[in-house]
Amino acid sequence: MKINKTMINHHKEWFGKLFLFVALIVISSAFFAFKGIGKAGAAPDKLTGSCLFNETKIDSIIAVMTLEEKIEMLCGNGMFTSAGVERLGIPELKYADGPTGIREELERNSWKPMGLTTDSATFFPTGSALAATWNPDMAYKFGTGIGEEAKTRGKDILLAPAVNITRTPLNGRTFEYMSEDPYLNSRLTVSYIKGVQNCGVAACVKHFAANNQETNRGSVNVTMDERTLREIYLPAFKAAIEEGHALTVMSAYNKFRGVYCGENDYLLNQILRKEWNFQGFVMSDWGGTHSTVNAALNGLEVEMGTKEFFTQKKLSEAVKKGLIPVSVIDEKVRRILRVNLYVHSTPTPANTEVSTPEHNKFAYDIALQSIVVLKNTTNTLPINLSKVKSIAVIGDNATHKHAIGGFGAGVKARYEITPLQGLQSKVGNKASISFVKGYAPKFSNKQKLGFGREPEYTADAALIKEAVEAAKKADIAIIFAGNNHDVETEATDRTNLTLPFGQDDLIKAVTAVNKRTIVVIVAGAPVDLNTTNSVANSIVWSWFNGSQGGNAVADILLGNAEPSGKLPFTLPVKLEDSPAHALKAYPGDSAVNYAEGLLVGYRWFDTKNIKPLFGFGHGLSYTKIDFTSVTTDKSTYDHAEKVIVSVKLKNNGLRDGFETVQLYVNDMNPIVFKANKELKAFKKVFVPVGKETEVKLEIPVENLAYYNEAAHKWTVSSGNYKIFAGASSQDIRGSSVIAVE
Ligand code: BGC
Repeated sequence: MKINKTMINHHKEWFGKLFLFVALIVISSAFFAFKGIGKAGAAPDKLTGSCLFNETKIDSIIAVMTLEEKIEMLCGNGMFTSAGVERLGIPELKYADGPTGIREELERNSWKPMGLTTDSATFFPTGSALAATWNPDMAYKFGTGIGEEAKTRGKDILLAPAVNITRTPLNGRTFEYMSEDPYLNSRLTVSYIKGVQNCGVAACVKHFAANNQETNRGSVNVTMDERTLREIYLPAFKAAIEEGHALTVMSAYNKFRGVYCGENDYLLNQILRKEWNFQGFVMSDWGGTHSTVNAALNGLEVEMGTKEFFTQKKLSEAVKKGLIPVSVIDEKVRRILRVNLYVHSTPTPANTEVSTPEHNKFAYDIALQSIVVLKNTTNTLPINLSKVKSIAVIGDNATHKHAIGGFGAGVKARYEITPLQGLQSKVGNKASISFVKGYAPKFSNKQKLGFGREPEYTADAALIKEAVEAAKKADIAIIFAGNNHDVETEATDRTNLTLPFGQDDLIKAVTAVNKRTIVVIVAGAPVDLNTTNSVANSIVWSWFNGSQGGNAVADILLGNAEPSGKLPFTLPVKLEDSPAHALKAYPGDSAVNYAEGLLVGYRWFDTKNIKPLFGFGHGLSYTKIDFTSVTTDKSTYDHAEKVIVSVKLKNNGLRDGFETVQLYVNDMNPIVFKANKELKAFKKVFVPVGKETEVKLEIPVENLAYYNEAAHKWTVSSGNYKIFAGASSQDIRGSSVIAVE
């Protein structure tokens, strides 16, 4: 057959049509695959919180995407959004801060609030308050409440939880973080994430890693030894991935061992992906990307907050030059698609009301369980309203709201019950309540390093005089002291622990005229309580405690509910007693080396025999709960077994109460350096008055391991271990020795 031009053209046309037809089928099947993938492809597994990804469907989507479409996904296309693929019906991803409530809506391309009336949310207690519950069930409730509100507000990714360790009490974000202890931190983190992700929202565990100070956070180079990294700073992240199956991770601002965290191969590729098998994607902190090729090759998926390095132009040029293989871009897209498909696989809940009665109840329950009674030597607490007929409420924090303030993410709280309001509604007409301000927040014009301003420390004599008069006339006085969000804020560390605005003077003056004065500290981070402790018989810590904080603290003070909070960090006598400060290993300038190594928080105080003012895990009940026995199920264990520890508690007091049994372990023959004792299990228990309860806690022997630097693995050394059961790290009530073979 003679082939002529017309035939060739005809064939070309035919092939063209065929090609178009096939392409259409591929694209539309990718589109429908995407639409349907939710159910089949990324079904959330409610039991484990894990996701099963349908890689075949993801392959079919990637196969029809252009390089431009892929690159578009790798950079925020708004301040809190990143692109999907419109052509394939893949929606963009919507992000929201966290961690204490869904942030108000901001303009698409700026930090400016939109000023809507429909974007308020429940203000949940802040991170350190959650940690003070010592209760993973509360973390699950927190996650569920905030996850549902995220979903209802159309958000796909919640920028929470924030799990960095409380290394220094000065860290401006201590209130957002949870604890100085990696085990407590991990247990709460996992439950929080499961709660969030079961709502069809992706959690974002942040800030990975070693972002333990705000001073110089954008540039400081953090160094520490490998064991410290593994045993103190990584456990919550590891648990977040391996047990919580967190779908996204936010890299930290700082450098780690000389390399920015957003382009840190060791953290992002070697540890997160290879060791922990992370399946989701890494986003940078806002403005925390510093390069194109390095970030792309070393594990960053999405640049957020800036559009500088992962732009269409820079990335595609680098790909075209062969500096970044297309396979690397495809892998990033795959990871983002996994998350995208998961979050779009569940419909928005039918109930579109944000801040439901159920969420308010969650916020109340968490706040209630977080409140710590530090001291109650004369049993002024709980307040007995059959005897107390007049109450002087004193202090700006009795009426100050904490949902918003300072720098960074706040919550436009639908409402926030203040302590004064809580007391007024709970006391009713059983006693009269007067209120005076006592102190006024004032800030000097001196700009601190970072964004915050230094608070004034001098007292207002007129306000103190007024407070003294009110306290003299009342049966009891309650001073609501502490910090606020302008004092404790992201982007700035505090410069000292002193209670600001002259509150020590106020506390001295009021306690001098009314011995029945209760001091309630409203703060998210350690403060200096020496003066308070020397003059006040009753001290309570009630945190930045969310929408229901005022109701919760009123119920605890009045004895309508039993206190059960425990400190999630150490309150030192003085700042210089804390490890990083004792060793002058904070804040550094361009670099900070964590010279205290493993001895963070109580591990330092305990091992070095330094008495804190109030130790890690401390918190009283209104009754007397004794530990009557501490036993283990066996005396010798192999590495695969679990130690079952039984602790009997007897309530010998006059009221029902809670105790949180804390198990600390001491390695009696350590072959490597170890802290004196480490928390390995805990459980909050309710013990009715007069009753004895037995609680069983488990310590898997593998959790006794240390990180063996030479072998790059966790090693349990054989020998004897002493298990201490206590009501705090300082208040050990019993012990039992086991052997590991
Ligand atoms: C914070 C993050 C936060 C982000 C977006 C950053 O400055 O470090 O925790 O999620 O801003 O608001």
